Amino acid sequence: MKTFPTSAVWCLGILFISVSLITTGSSEVQVVGSANTVVALIGDDVILPCFLKPNVSAEDMTVEWTGLYLKTRNIHLYLDSRDSNEDQHPSYRGRTSMFNEELKNGNVSLKLTRVTLSDAGSYRCFIPTLKSQVKETTVQLFVGAVSQPVISIDGTKGWGVVLKCESGGWFPEPEMEWLDSSGTILPADGPPERHRDSEGLYAVRRHVTVNQTDINRFTCRVNQLEINHMKETEINVPDDVFPKSQTGLIVGLIAAVAVAVLAASAGVYKRRKHTDGEFNLISDWSLMSHH
Ligand SMILES: *[C@@H]1O[C@H](CO)[C@@H](O)[C@H](O)[C@H]1NC(C)=O
Ligand SMILES: *[C@@H]1O[C@H](CO)[C@@H](O)[C@H](O)[C@H]1NC(C)=O
Ligand SMILES: *[C@@H]1O[C@H](CO)[C@@H](O)[C@H](O)[C@H]1NC(C)=O
Repeated sequence: MKTFPTSAVWCLGILFISVSLITTGSSEVQVVGSANTVVALIGDDVILPCFLKPNVSAEDMTVEWTGLYLKTRNIHLYLDSRDSNEDQHPSYRGRTSMFNEELKNGNVSLKLTRVTLSDAGSYRCFIPTLKSQVKETTVQLFVGAVSQPVISIDGTKGWGVVLKCESGGWFPEPEMEWLDSSGTILPADGPPERHRDSEGLYAVRRHVTVNQTDINRFTCRVNQLEINHMKETEINVPDDVFPKSQTGLIVGLIAAVAVAVLAASAGVYKRRKHTDGEFNLISDWSLMSHH
């Protein structure tokens, strides 16, 4: 009696599986797409998968590719054994095709060329002529954009050199990090600055102040996990860009003060301008020593 409930569950389970097998039996043709989102970059050509399972010919069937939540409804129509795109949305004109030689294998996938950001969304593959329950499927298209970061030297701060990394033309918004030559993430001079351009793409910028090392090689890495893309740019900062050592600066200071004193005693400057002159001389010296 104690085992009865368990065996009852088993019986019901087996019955359920048998009924499922009969109703969705292999004789029933289904429309199958892709459970995974299709990811493409702007400008790519992409295939939106859709096929009949099992493998029956779709040559004499009607195939409608439409946008599910997109404003652009009519994307591609295959009717009476030919493409029939008179009512196609203008933004897809000349960019859609099906694989004619694959139709006999039940492959009604859509090829979309030169993908744009506004192509992202849900696509419906619908075969109205099919005499079965599952006549349609949806395929998600995700569109991304990437670009190479650009590094520049943005001056000095203390004993360090300020580096700037910029990268425009990303979608979605990426992460930006600075790394040293061993791949360790460096503390940046603040969070990344970002803005979005008129096309909806993101531009990111981030500064870092680096100290002199043996090789002075630094990397800017831009990463977008959703589209699984990463771009890196390296810079080798020449040694002489770094501010000189402390003794060097003291020697420089003494030299600057000496020049200023000489100038003052020669009576070239008025007393008020003397301080400005001294400051400028020091700045000029440190600028000259960088090059
Ligand atoms: C699908 O069609 C191709 C080409 O006719 C054939 O080689 C393949 O065996 C078929 N697959 C199935 C599962 O029937
Ligand atoms: C359909 O045809 C295209 C083009 O040949 C191919 O890339 C794709 O893998 C095919 N899909 C299936 C499910 O066979
Ligand atoms: C550079 O050196 C300064 C002073 O020694 C230190 O405070 C700073 O953290 C260093 N920066 C990096 C990125 O290691």
